[in-house]
Amino acid sequence: MLSINNLEVGYGGATVLRNVGIKVETGQVVCIMGRNGVGKTTLLKTVMGLLRPTQGEISFDGQNITRAAPDRRARAGIGFVPQGREIFPHLTVQENLELGLEAAVKGKSKPTKVPDSIFEMFPALKGMIARRGGQLSGGQQQQLAIGRALATDPSLLLLDEPMEGIQPSVVQEIEHAIRTIKAERKIAVLLVEQSLEFATTIADYTYIMDNHTVVAQGKPGEISEEVLRHHLTV
Ligand SMILES: Nc1ncnc2c1ncn2[C@@H]1O[C@H](COP(=O)(O)OP(=O)(O)OP(=O)(O)O)[C@@H](O)[C@H]1O
Ligand SMILES: [Mg+2]
Repeated sequence: MLSINNLEVGYGGATVLRNVGIKVETGQVVCIMGRNGVGKTTLLKTVMGLLRPTQGEISFDGQNITRAAPDRRARAGIGFVPQGREIFPHLTVQENLELGLEAAVKGKSKPTKVPDSIFEMFPALKGMIARRGGQLSGGQQQQLAIGRALATDPSLLLLDEPMEGIQPSVVQEIEHAIRTIKAERKIAVLLVEQSLEFATTIADYTYIMDNHTVVAQGKPGEISEEVLRHHLTV
C-alpha cells in the first residue's frame, strides 16, 4: 500500500537520506530501526508530506503522492503520530481528539464525534476528556497522540518512537494498542522503534538504516545478530 523508491531528502545542502526504498503491505507492521540522527524522523515526515524529497517517489494505494500536501495525504488515509507526541497542551483531550476528526478521510461521511473505539483502546482518556493535554502524563499524552491520529480513520499509521520517555507500565498499554490497531482495525503501521526486542515481537518486516540509507531488511529473525550489532549499537 505504501511504496517508497529511491528517496533522497535533505535540509538545505545537507543530504540526510539517499536511495531509500521501503514497502509497507496492507495491514503489516513495518519497523524502521537505526541510530540517533540516521534520518528516521526525516523519513516519516517525508511520507507525511512535511518535507519535500529532492529525488524519488512515494506512492500510496497506487497513487503517486510524492508532491501531495500533508492534508491530502491525511484524507487519503495516512495518520501521523510525531516523535515527542506534539499534542496541544492548552487544548482539552476532547479538543485534541476533535482536531483528528477534521482531517478525516474524504469520501467517507465525516464522523462528527470521536469514535468510541478510541476510548475502548485507551480507557484512561475517557475519564480525562475535559483535562488539558498538558496536564496528562507522558504515557497518557502518547495515547492521546495515537487516538488523535486514529480519529482520522487511517489505513496507514506512521508512529515515531511511541515508547520514548514512557514509564514501563504504560509501555505495555501502548504495545497492546499497536497490536489491536493491527489485528482488529487492520491498519498498517510504519513504526520507528529503538527497542530491538519490541521490534522483533511486533514487526512483520524490519528495515535497518545506517549511513543515510537502508542497509539491511528482513522478517523477524532474518537479519543476523552481527548485522544488527554493527548498525544499531552505539
Ligand atoms: N530541521 C532540520 N534542519 C537541519 N537538519 C536537521 C533538521 N532536522 C534534522 N536534521 C538533521 O538530519 C539528520 C537526521 O535527523 P532525524 O531527526 O531524521 O534523525 P532520527 O533518526 O529521527 O534521530 P533520533 O533517533 O534522534 O530521533 C540529523 O543529522 C539531524 O541533525
Ligand atoms: Mg527521530
